Parts: sequence; structure tokens; C-alpha cells
Amino acid sequence: MFLILNNMLVQVLLLGRLHHRNLVNLIGYCVDKGQCILVYQFMSNGSLQNLLYGEEKNLSWDERLQIALDISHGIEYLHEGAVPPVIHRDLKSANILLDNSMRAKVADFGLSKEEIFDGQNSALKGTYGYIDPAYVSTSKLTMKSDIYSFGIIIFELITAIHPHQNLLEYVSLAAMDHDGIDGILDKQLVEKCDIEEVRQLAIIAHKCLHKLPKKRPSIGEVSQVMSRIKHRRQHGRKENMSFRSGTLSRGLSQLEDQHGELNRTASMNHNQNG
Ligand SMILES: Nc1ncnc2c1ncn2[C@@H]1O[C@H](COP(=O)(O)OP(=O)(O)OP(=O)(O)O)[C@@H](O)[C@H]1O
Ligand SMILES: [Mg+2]
Repeated sequence: MFLILNNMLVQVLLLGRLHHRNLVNLIGYCVDKGQCILVYQFMSNGSLQNLLYGEEKNLSWDERLQIALDISHGIEYLHEGAVPPVIHRDLKSANILLDNSMRAKVADFGLSKEEIFDGQNSALKGTYGYIDPAYVSTSKLTMKSDIYSFGIIIFELITAIHPHQNLLEYVSLAAMDHDGIDGILDKQLVEKCDIEEVRQLAIIAHKCLHKLPKKRPSIGEVSQVMSRIKHRRQHGRKENMSFRSGTLSRGLSQLEDQHGELNRTASMNHNQNG
């Protein structure tokens, strides 16, 4: 018991050193009667799970895209920025929390509790529906297991189908159907999102779920794809705005020309009549 607590404390002290804007900060801990209590910063908009499946579900496509990018940056810090690197082990929508400006942060990193799956392999960590099948069959934990769980979260953002409600089956069927991902898009997003962006996000999510961990992208690659989608949309909007303002100013100057022409005609008529 003492050893377990001691190991846990070492882990807590290590995790307390990790700080990033897309991680829920550990702000303290308390040990009492063999129990360790961890104190985290408060996230006023609760979990992504509640926002996707709770009573007041109402997440726009813009928000979902930003949440995906925030999660990606949080994982990128754990995998590629932290020394030593940290494998989350329990990425799921319940462990993604949102602050008062709807920015997402990854919670519970590196401390997931143990889950017993089949009575034989009790050392596996993770949550049913999010856990990498390759990890279950080999017991070999790598960063690519986090990538698999992230792929599931991306599909949750697109479809609002929980992994316990056969999300994977829907995704596999959609891949065979000619409608593709459009067919399982969250109803709340229909005609309220850029379907091309949805498709691009679905492609990267599919890659994250590749059955061979080696073939899955690194988190840096996932972040790059998402940043490109965001950049393109901002760039597109700017181009659109400058196109619109260009059209507007051309229209105004045409109006001014016509106005001048009318004035000239009116004064010529006036002179002839006079
Ligand atoms: N820092 C926080 N700020 C605000 N709400 C939180 C915070 N941490 C947790 N919660 C809320 O409490 C819920 C339960 O969190 P908790 O981590 O105890 O369980 P879980 O993530 O559902 O499962 P697990 O025990 O496997 O991590 C979260 O889904 C979230 O709604
Ligand atoms: Mg949690």
C-alpha cells in the first residue's frame, strides 16, 4: 500500500511539472489516511462528453474544429514536448474539459486507473470503446494507442455518436456507403458546416484508427492537418471578404460614375432649355 502510494506521489509530482494551455493544470494534492486527492483547475464548461450527449448539446462546427485542434495540441505537448514523454492512456470525451471561453484542455493524463477486460489481462489501462485493439492484443503501450483514442474522439465530434453506441460500426459502414461520412454527420451540423472540412477531418480520423499502430500518424502530423483546415478556412474567409469589399467598392464607383453622368446630362438639358 505504502509503495503504491509512494509510486503514485512520484507520478503526481512528475505530472505537476507539466504545463500547457491545452492541459488541465494540476494545482495541488493532499494525502490523508492512505488516500491521495488531486486538485485540478476548475473547467466551467464541463466535459466534451456532456456537451455532445448532455441535455443542452449545442456545439457549432467552428467550436468542434477548435476543440479538435486544442486536444491535438495538448497531446502534442505530452508526446513531443514533455521530457520524458507522457502517454495519456485514457483519452476519451469525458477527459476533455472546456473552460469559460470553450477552449478544450486534456485532463487526467498519465494517471488512468486500471481496467480489467477479460479477467486475464488486468494490467491494461484505458476505457472500453476508446482503447486501442492492438494494445489489448499485445499489451504493448505506445503513443500510437493515444492516437487511436483520439481518432475515436474526432469521430465523436463529427457524429455525436458515443463509442458505446456502436460508433465504430457506423464509421465502418459509412466508409463503404457512397454517402461516406456525410451519412452519419451529427444532425445538428447538417447544412451548418463546411462538408469538405468534415471530410478532411474524417480522413485523418480514419488514419488514426489504422489497425497497425505504425501506420497511424504521429500527433504532430494530425495537428498539421487540422491547422491547415483552420488556416484555409480563415484564409478563405479573408479572400471572400476582400472579394466582397472589392465588389462593393467597384459597385460604388460605378454608381458614382452614373451619378456624374446623370448630373452632366441634367445640366446640358438645363443649358439647352435655358
Ligand atoms: N477540473 C474539472 N473541472 C470541471 N469539471 C470537472 C473537472 N474534472 C472533472 N470534472 C467533471 O467530472 C466528471 C467526472 O470526471 P472523472 O475524471 O472523475 O471521471 P471520468 O473522466 O468520467 O472517468 P475516469 O474516472 O475514468 O477518469 C467529468 O466528466 C467532468 O464533467
Ligand atoms: Mg476523468
